[in-house]
Amino acid sequence: MEEKIRIENVTKKFGSYAALDGISLSFEKGKIHGMIGRNGSGKTVLFKCICGFLRVDDGAVFVDGKQIGKEIEAPESIGAIIETPGFLPGYSARQNLQFLAGIRRKIGKKEIDAAIRKVGLDPEAKKHVGKYSLGMRQRLGIAQAIMEEPSLLILDEPMNGLDNQGVQEMRQLFLKLKDEGKTILLASHNREDIAALCDTTVEIDRGKIVG
Ligand SMILES: Nc1ncnc2c1ncn2[C@@H]1O[C@H](COP(=O)(O)OP(=O)(O)OP(=O)(O)O)[C@@H](O)[C@H]1O
Ligand SMILES: [Mg+2]
Repeated sequence: MEEKIRIENVTKKFGSYAALDGISLSFEKGKIHGMIGRNGSGKTVLFKCICGFLRVDDGAVFVDGKQIGKEIEAPESIGAIIETPGFLPGYSARQNLQFLAGIRRKIGKKEIDAAIRKVGLDPEAKKHVGKYSLGMRQRLGIAQAIMEEPSLLILDEPMNGLDNQGVQEMRQLFLKLKDEGKTILLASHNREDIAALCDTTVEIDRGKIVG
């Protein structure tokens, strides 16, 4: 197996509370890995440590063999949707993604429009994101995560607010990305999404792996 992510004895504390309590995990490349667990169990904190948004207090996170926060600040090729995506309310979908794409300057309008289409939105639409429904905003968040075609995709409750059709479409999209060789981490409270999508599942409870 080719390892994409290795979590070694990771502890992350907030005050005296260990949100992650000595976790060790390995995620294989090219698969969809599910994370389940109750509210507050540590899923989002783990994802943020993998993205490099949070520093671990103890242990190490490796992506493609490189230690996050040590050898590199953040994974080189990563896309993420974590909790509610923040967008500029006074701009259109395309303008928002153009603004975000400006950070890494890897892609242009063609790729941005393609990503917007992949999530079922219209790249030509002038409507400001501030007037988007919850589901539309979520779709745009997924477009933002996939637009640079990252090799690692971190999806934290990506189906939030999506209607049935949207859920089916995003499942197809994620499976297609897996077929292209991408590695996906998916946190979800929806058992059907987990069953339909994931090759492996880990359960976390109070910062520990329990299954
Ligand atoms: N920035 C922070 N400061 C203090 N405590 C935090 C912070 N971020 C997370 N926590 C705590 O860490 C624990 C794990 O939170 P986390 O967001 O990872 O849960 P989760 O498994 O994603 O839950 P949910 O299913 O509700 O999304 C919780 O007790 C939470 O209060
Ligand atoms: Mg969470």
